[in-house]
This record gives sequence, structure tokens and C-alpha cells, in this order.
Amino acid sequence: MTSSPYFAPVNNSISTFKDNIFEGKVLFCTGGGSGICKGMTESIMRHGANAVIIGRKFDRLTEASRELSERTGRTCIPIQADVRQPQTLQAAAERTMEYFGRIDFVICGAAGNFMSPISGLSENAFKTVIEIDTLGTYNTVKATIPHVRATKGAYVHVSATLHYRGTPYQVHVSAAKAGVDAISNVVAVEEGPHGVRSNVLAPGFTSGTEGMRVMSGNKTNKTEGFSNPLGRFTEIHDVANVAVFLFSPAACYITGQVLPVDGGAEHLRGDF
Ligand code: HXC
Repeated sequence: MTSSPYFAPVNNSISTFKDNIFEGKVLFCTGGGSGICKGMTESIMRHGANAVIIGRKFDRLTEASRELSERTGRTCIPIQADVRQPQTLQAAAERTMEYFGRIDFVICGAAGNFMSPISGLSENAFKTVIEIDTLGTYNTVKATIPHVRATKGAYVHVSATLHYRGTPYQVHVSAAKAGVDAISNVVAVEEGPHGVRSNVLAPGFTSGTEGMRVMSGNKTNKTEGFSNPLGRFTEIHDVANVAVFLFSPAACYITGQVLPVDGGAEHLRGDF
């Protein structure tokens, strides 16, 4: 393994979990070419899994796959697909099966975001984000479910916390992520009897990501007006560590849950 901007070894181990807990497992991750999803993929590969990352931009995916394979000593392959087009995801799942023969873990992470007041948002703009986030999650689940049932695997859906309250300029993303949370719950109840778990990870403002850039007006480390009990932004490795936990046997009795990774920002009050 080589060094990473996200993960620093502690006592020669990369997390509190054993390094090889995901040996022989295969991850299928939409949106894995950058940001939080790339970080989660790296962390899961560092624990022994191979991975497929899916996205629209093949050059970026290819570069990310090369980096991920190099840093982890595992195999990552890039597959170009648009989560809005179910046939491209079906093809991606089939290629994963041909290449690795199994799918254990799925991260539904592809997302779109920009800031706009509802009064200025076109129908197509609203629909675009719903199609990427919500329909894309549905399409990803549909394409992978038979394979995930076969391995009694698990889903992690990447959502947000902004729809818990009204967040200005985010009507499209708020509606889309509420839909993602709902899909995860239904997957949990319908697939639980088949041994499949489904949970949601809800990152807060995450340093160095496209989401942070979009929501903070091009700053990647906005601090103005921000506070939470732990006093810092979410880091990519915070989210990646929780993804490792959710896919691990330590979480084998956890399904249908939404887990915010936001330092308590949304649920705790410090303003009395
Ligand atoms: C208003 C906009 C807009 C903007 C696009 N549109 N950007 N409207 N303000 N800034 C409108 C367009 O005018 C068009 O509507 C419609 O949206 C579709 O735009 P396209 O560019 O044709 O779509 P597409 O090429 O598919 O691009 C998708 C995208 C894009 C979502 C618009 O921005 C994108 O893919 N962004 C990168 C991914 C990203 O943002 N990732 C971060 C996710 S973070 P009309 O009516 O003109 O046809 C996240 C977590 C948030 O989701 C939580 C943080 C705490």
C-alpha cells in the first residue's frame, strides 16, 4: 500500500478494524471517481476488497482507478455509465460479474448539486437532480439487487442532512435526498428477509468536496456561520470510516438506518 491524502496509518493499521475484513469482497460504487465516494472506495479496498467505480467521466474514473489500485494493492476497474440510464447500469453490473464474479457491497453515491432559489429553478433543473440522485439510486439498486442477494451483501446510500430542515437554494437536492432515504428504507424491509442490509450515510459539510465548493460559493473550507459541537467540518475519512463500519460484520444487525456524519450539527442545539 502507498500513502493517501485521506488515511494515515495508526499503529501500522489503517483503521480500528482489521485490515483484511473485506478480503474477497467486491464493491460497486457509483460516483466513485471523486470526493467522498472515492474516499469510501479507498477505505474499503484498504480492508481487502476489489472495486468497480462508475461515473460519466471516463478520464477521471480511469485516473481514480489507477490511484486506488496503486494506493491499496487491490484491483479497481472504471466503468463508464450514467445512473440516469438504467441500461448502462445493467451493463456495468454485468461487467462487474464477468470480471469479479460477485457484488457484495453497493454504494449509491452519484449526485448532482448547484445552488438556486426555487423561483429561479427550471423544471428541467429540478428534474435533473432528481434523476441523478433519486432515480439514479433506484436504477443502481435495480441493476445490482440479484447479485447482492446472492452474496447477502449490503447497500450504503449517500444522502445529506439538508432536508431535515428547510435549506435555502436546495429544493431540488432536498427533495432528491429525501427520496434516497425513502428508497433505502424500502430496500431494508423488502430485502432484509434475503439477508441484505440497507443504510444511509448522511455527511455534513465535507472539506475538499464538490458539494462544499458548490454550497460555499467556490470555497472548499467555508467557516463563516458554521458551528457544530465537535468544532470542525466533516472530513472524507470520517465518512469512509463509517462506511467500513456499515459494511462490516460489526453492523450485521443494523439496517434501515440513517447515520449523519456531521459532528452533531443537525441534531444538537448549542444556541440557548
Ligand atoms: C440553475 C442550473 C444550474 C445552476 C445547471 N442548471 N446548473 N440551474 N443554477 N447553477 C440547470 C440547467 O440550466 C438545465 O436546465 C438543467 O439544470 C440541467 O443542466 P445540465 O448542465 O444540462 O445537466 P448535466 O450536464 O446533466 O449536469 C448535472 C448537474 C451538474 C447536476 C447540473 O452540475 C453536475 O453534474 N455537477 C457535478 C456533480 C456535483 O455537483 N456533485 C456534488 C454533489 S454534492 P434548463 O432548464 O436550462 O434545461 C451533494 C451533497 C450536498 O449532492 C450536501 C452538502 C452538505
